Amino acid sequence: MLFSPTGLTECLREWDDLEKNHQQILDTHRLYKQKLEEVTKLQNGCSGAISRQRKKLKDLTVALKECQENHPTPKLSTEEMETIAEIQESVKDRITSFSEMEAFLPKKNGLYLNLVLGNVNVTLLNKQSKFAYKDEYEKFKLILTVIIFIFSFTCRFLFSYRVLDALFNFLLVWYYCTLTIRESILISNGSRIKGWWVFHHYVSTFLSGVMLTWPEGALYQMFRDQFLTYCLYQSCVQFLQYYYQSGCLYRLRALGERHNMDLTVEGFQSWMWRGLTFLLPFLFFGQFWQLFNSITLFKMSQLPECKEWQVAMCGCSYMVLFLGNFFTTLGVVYQKYTNNKDKTKSL
Ligand code: COA
Repeated sequence: MLFSPTGLTECLREWDDLEKNHQQILDTHRLYKQKLEEVTKLQNGCSGAISRQRKKLKDLTVALKECQENHPTPKLSTEEMETIAEIQESVKDRITSFSEMEAFLPKKNGLYLNLVLGNVNVTLLNKQSKFAYKDEYEKFKLILTVIIFIFSFTCRFLFSYRVLDALFNFLLVWYYCTLTIRESILISNGSRIKGWWVFHHYVSTFLSGVMLTWPEGALYQMFRDQFLTYCLYQSCVQFLQYYYQSGCLYRLRALGERHNMDLTVEGFQSWMWRGLTFLLPFLFFGQFWQLFNSITLFKMSQLPECKEWQVAMCGCSYMVLFLGNFFTTLGVVYQKYTNNKDKTKSL
């Protein structure tokens, strides 16, 4: 419990204590500002040194390639060729290590973040804050998934009002927009999210925006139930995805070895494969549903009574989503499978 002084003597004693404490706070804050300045200098020094090294490495790579290709006869000896290959390998390692270092250094925002947030530093400077931000991103998706599930259930089974549908689509536009911003911040902080997943959210924003402007009519009603049922299904898949992705995140964090697979990660890998093989059929079903939506919309756009441009536009967007999601998922699974095989071979 806080001490509350009674009587003037106690008040004066308390004031003396507060004075001393205030002086301590001032000193600590002065030290903090001084350290901040030192940190800023170190950050600038480090960033500058990295970019200078990067440039030199780039020039060196070009020069080595030229040596390999244009060297006059007699050609380079096997030893020299081996030395060049070794240097080229080391250059690749250096570039990876610089990228890891840069994840902890302030950097300029990309065009999108600059447009949305302005020139503000979004780099989180320690692993804990990066993890907390990613964790918060996953939780944000989970909460919104629950809201979207309830909303789409209400629109699908309880109330059929165009205004309510518009609110639902507006929520989707806002949600996907927010995801693109959060994902750009995650990428700035060293996340390996594939460009497609971010682009997929731009397309989803566009699609929801077009759905929002689709006027009430026979065609809208024709597609409405299919669209809302698809949204319900997608929320369920998103829930499974949350379970898988936050599971990966916590396990990797517990191992303290993010992005660096070794023997200790064996348990993690087997969990990941079990999670992924469970999730994949649901993902593929959802992706084929996107294809189905696209075909339905293209067929509707052929009808003589179809006057709305939104029909064909939504059809194209669903087709883009299907193609991108399907092939990127296949690519991710193939990449994980080959990495796993290489790992097993090297053991
Ligand atoms: N959205 C956002 N981030 C994603 C993502 C997605 N769809 N897929 C992967 N990531 C992130 C991961 O969290 C990880 O982030 P980190 O570097 O910060 O830890 C990074 O990208 C690399 O992940 P990766 O190892 O390549 O994939 P994964 O094992 O985490 O997930 C899938 C693989 C296939 C399960 C996942 O990409 C996915 O669910 N895709 C399908 C999406 C889809 O088709 N939705 C529509 C269905 S109706």
